[in-house]
Amino acid sequence: MSLEKKYPKEVKQILAKYPPEQKRSAVMPLLYLAQREEGYVSKHSMQDIAQIVGITDTEVASIIGFYSLYHDEKAGKFRIQVCTDLPCALRGADEFLKNLCENIGIQVGETTEDGLITIEAVTCLAGCDKAPMFQTQGPDGIKYHENMTVDKTMELIEALKKAA
Ligand code: FES
Repeated sequence: MSLEKKYPKEVKQILAKYPPEQKRSAVMPLLYLAQREEGYVSKHSMQDIAQIVGITDTEVASIIGFYSLYHDEKAGKFRIQVCTDLPCALRGADEFLKNLCENIGIQVGETTEDGLITIEAVTCLAGCDKAPMFQTQGPDGIKYHENMTVDKTMELIEALKKAA
């Protein structure tokens, strides 16, 4: 079902905030709306949004790709998003991510079998001088974790498992 059919009132309210000639500005709240239910924006929703605001599917996909708070794939209950941009890489982010994945037993982009943890590599999260660093996204919101080690991260994962 299209976004407009599913949430006609909300889509209308979002579009009403922008002049018709600038309706492409509505892309962000529409993405948020599309993502709200399942935690990611499906291909179908991307096409809907592109059509609603008059841009291409590729442009919508590139916006999702740019922001670490939008997702184009289903994930576990918690996303661990490790920054691997250059400044963090210079402080060992790549090595950290590789070792973390080995410890958990999944690859970047994968989710643990229990559906709890997804590991992702993302671009700058504005904690460059405190790498290795990552943010977690989950039911309790977004949290920053800076100056991390694999051991500390494994402890965090254990705590998340217990709480889940
Ligand atoms: S480059 Fe990693 S937080 Fe800025």
